[in-house]
Amino acid sequence: MGLLSFFNREVAMDLGTANSIVIYNDQVVIDEPSIVAYDRKMQKIVAVGEAAKRIEGKSKDIEVVRPLRGGVIADFEMAQHLIRELIGMTAANRSFLPPSLKMVICIPSGITNVEERAVRESAEQAGAKEIRMIHEPMAAAIGIGIDVLQPEGHMVVDIGGGTAEIAVISFGGIVCNTSIRIAGDVFNENVVEYMRRQHNMVIGIRTAEQVKIAVGAAVSELDEPPEDYLTHGRDQLTGLPKQISINYKEIAMALDRSIAQIEQAILDTLATTPPELAADIYKTGIYLAGGGALLRGLDQRIYSKTKLPVHIADDPLRAVARGTGIALKNFNKFSFLIR
Ligand SMILES: Nc1ncnc2c1ncn2[C@@H]1O[C@H](COP(=O)(O)OP(=O)(O)OP(=O)(O)O)[C@@H](O)[C@H]1O
Ligand SMILES: [Mg+2]
Repeated sequence: MGLLSFFNREVAMDLGTANSIVIYNDQVVIDEPSIVAYDRKMQKIVAVGEAAKRIEGKSKDIEVVRPLRGGVIADFEMAQHLIRELIGMTAANRSFLPPSLKMVICIPSGITNVEERAVRESAEQAGAKEIRMIHEPMAAAIGIGIDVLQPEGHMVVDIGGGTAEIAVISFGGIVCNTSIRIAGDVFNENVVEYMRRQHNMVIGIRTAEQVKIAVGAAVSELDEPPEDYLTHGRDQLTGLPKQISINYKEIAMALDRSIAQIEQAILDTLATTPPELAADIYKTGIYLAGGGALLRGLDQRIYSKTKLPVHIADDPLRAVARGTGIALKNFNKFSFLIR
């Protein structure tokens, strides 16, 4: 983990609903779940990230909070703590926090002015002096390796924990975009609901996420299917613990409606894309980023629906963070960065 030296006082942050990533000196130095564990009685933060996640549901006195919901700050105070702790972890020792911290932080494209101000104030409270913000789909495009300054249209679909963002980018700007609050968190809920309805089994959201990662799929026919996954939960009728083996086809069924809504949002965005850019996208295709891009067969499914080439970003969970890091290096050059 790098130390914030006196000479280098710049960090890039992807503050995601599910995961927060900090880039410092071109390296990912922090990649942690966006979770804060707070002791209400003592009024202090006891853990953030993975350490906070481990406490979830295990203690009576400690409240485990996810300060972001649907891609935006839902709990302002906790978000501030999260940002401050993340920067603190980067600096290793808080007392060395530089006086003029420069920061690029990404925000969802559908963010309201009030929400944008909340992010900015959180960063300021956490010690940032110079702040630029970048819209997530733009950061994703840069992180994927697209030359966003060229007058050529590209479509980016970033499916995170809280939001699916679909954007057409050309000539350093977002030409059209759609943001829907259907993404990883909703997929997890879909899995919980499916297990309850289909198997009379109650599972927690964390188990649902494990199931999704182990056997998640967007189509019911895969060339390389994953092995069935043994899922543990509680029988809804008897109340006793039980286990069931789950097949990927079941999860494809559980997620079907949510994925159909994302597909529809892609179609809607394509329908509002100016014709010259639509012609470009016919050639350049659709780029998938965010954790949702890892769903098996999602590329195949979007291809069937749109007949456009579909590419999955390298290391899709970190594409937005990579792009935010590149934006940091172009702090004054990229005119699309929000002051
Ligand atoms: N292999 C996988 N298959 C399916 N989903 C996955 C996989 N790995 C991670 N995910 C999901 O990806 C989501 C997190 O993605 P990501 O880190 O891009 O979101 P985020 O940036 O925190 O959220 P947002 O951009 O909406 O604020 C989680 O819902 C997680 O369950
Ligand atoms: Mg994200």
